[in-house]
Amino acid sequence: MLLLYLSLLVLALAVQWIRKRFRYWEDRGVPYVTPAFPTGNLRGFGRKFHISTIMQRCYKQLKGKGPFGGIFMFTNPVVLVKDFQYFEDRLFYYNEKDNPIEAHLVALEGTRWRNSRSKVTSVFSSGKMKMMFPTMIRVADEFSKVLTRETAQGKSIAMKDFLSRYTTDVVGTCTFGVDCNSLNYPKAVYRQMGKKAFNFTFLKVMLAEQFRDIARALHVTFFDSDVSNFFLNVVKDIFEYREQNNVQQIDFTSLLSRLKNPDSESGENTNQQEYWSIEEIAAQLFVFFLAGSETPSTTMSFCLYELAANAELQERARANVLQSIEKHGFMSYEAIHEMHFLEQCINESLRKYPPVASLLRTVTRDYPVPDSGGVILQRGTTMIVPVYAIHHDPEYYSDPETYDPDRFSADLVAQRNPLCFVPFGAGPRTCIGLRFGMTST
Ligand code: HEM
Ligand SMILES: *[C@@H]1O[C@H](CO)[C@@H](O)[C@H](O)[C@H]1NC(C)=O
Ligand SMILES: *[C@@H]1O[C@H](CO)[C@@H](O)[C@H](O)[C@H]1NC(C)=O
Repeated sequence: MLLLYLSLLVLALAVQWIRKRFRYWEDRGVPYVTPAFPTGNLRGFGRKFHISTIMQRCYKQLKGKGPFGGIFMFTNPVVLVKDFQYFEDRLFYYNEKDNPIEAHLVALEGTRWRNSRSKVTSVFSSGKMKMMFPTMIRVADEFSKVLTRETAQGKSIAMKDFLSRYTTDVVGTCTFGVDCNSLNYPKAVYRQMGKKAFNFTFLKVMLAEQFRDIARALHVTFFDSDVSNFFLNVVKDIFEYREQNNVQQIDFTSLLSRLKNPDSESGENTNQQEYWSIEEIAAQLFVFFLAGSETPSTTMSFCLYELAANAELQERARANVLQSIEKHGFMSYEAIHEMHFLEQCINESLRKYPPVASLLRTVTRDYPVPDSGGVILQRGTTMIVPVYAIHHDPEYYSDPETYDPDRFSADLVAQRNPLCFVPFGAGPRTCIGLRFGMTST
C-alpha cells in the first residue's frame, strides 16, 4: 500500500515537473512550438526524420513570430536564433578526464577555447595554405590516377566513399605528414579510424550533451578508446621520430609542435597558457583530421551529383576549370582561386546540402534580448541556428529545392544578407578550416 502510494506520488511529481518545464517559454512570453512528452519537439528523431528536417519543421512554425523562438529538446528549452555572435560556447559533449583527445577546439569552452583558438589560427593562414597546396595537388593527381584505373576496368564506383578516401589522404598528409594511402587501399587504417570516429550513436551524444555532468560522472566518452588511442599514439610517434631525426615538414603537426611544453625535456616550469601538453596538441590535430575529411567529401559528392544531373552546368564548370588552367599554365593556387563558376557550384551545394545542418551555442551568461520586451535568455540555455532551414527558406532563395549556381553570381550575393548563407558558421567561432576546406573541395 505504501509502495503504491509512493509510486503515485513520484509519478504526480514527475508529471508536474514536466508540465512546468514545458511552460518555460510560455512563462517568458517567447513564441514557441508546442512540445509533447517525451521528446519535446523532436518527434520522429532518429527513426523517421533527420535532425535538419525537424529543425525546419520548428523554423517554419516560428517564422514571422519574431527574431527567435523556443523549442524543447526532450524537456530542455532551446532557442532558435538569428543573432548569435555573442554566445561563445558550443554544446559539444567532451570528457577530457577519461579521454584527453576530446579536449579539442570544437568542444573547448570559455578562456581555454579562446586561448587555443588564437594559438592555432595562424596555422590556417593563406600563406600556410599556399605552402600546403602542392601536397593537395599530389593527392589530387593520385585521385585522378586511381579513378582512371578503376573506371577503365568498367567498375562502378561508390563516389562518396571514394571522395572520403581522397580527403582522408589530403588531410592526413597535411595534418600528420603521413601518406595515409587510402585511395589505393580502401581499408587503410586512417580511413578505418576516421570512419569509426563518426560511428557514434546520435542519441547517446544528445543525451550526454543534455545531461553532461551525469554523463561525465558515469565516464561516458564521446569517442571509443581504440580511436583516441590510435591518434594519440600517431602523434606521439611522429613527435618522437621527428625530434630524433630532426625532420622538418610543412604540416599541422610541425606547425603546432612549437607549442609543445618544453617541460618534458628540460624540467623547467612553464606557463600553461603558453604551452600545450602532447595530449592537447593531439586533440587539435585529431579534430582537424576528422573535420577536414568528412565535410569536404560530403560537399563534393553532392556537388558532383548535381553536376551529373545537369549536363549544361557541368559543361560550364568544366570550361571554367580548363580556362583557368590554360591561363595560369597549370593547376596552381592562383588558378584554383580564379575558378569562379566552380566556386559558385560548390557554394550552391553547400547551400542546398549544408554538411553541418545546425550550429550550436550555449548562452554563457544571462542575455537580455534587445527589443524583446524584456526577455532574458538564461545562462546554460542551448541555442540552435537551423542552417538547413535558413538555406531552404523561399524568402531568401526562391524555389529553394532547385540547384542553381547562378544564385552565387557576384550581384546576387551582394543583394543577400550574408547571414543567409552560413555553411561554415559565423562569428568568432566560425569554421577555422574554411580556406583549407574550400581549397581541397
Ligand atoms: C567544406 C568543408 C567544411 C565545412 C562545411 C565546415 C563547417 C563547419 C561549421 C559549420 C563549423 C561550426 C561553426 C560555428 O559554430 O559557427 C565548423 C567549425 C570548425 N571546423 Fe569546419 N568545416 C569544413 C572544413 C573544415 C576543415 C578542413 C577543418 C580543419 C582542417 C575544419 C575545422 C574546424 C574546427 C576546428 C572548427 C571549430 C572551430 C572553433 O570552435 O573555434 N573544418 N566547421
Ligand atoms: C559501426 O557500428 C555498428 C554498430 O555498433 C557496427 O555494426 C559497424 O561495424 C560499425 N562500423 C565501423 C566502420 O566501425
Ligand atoms: C563561397 O563561399 C565561401 C565560404 O562561405 C565564401 O568565402 C566565398 O566568397 C563564396 N563565393 C561566392 C562566389 O559566393
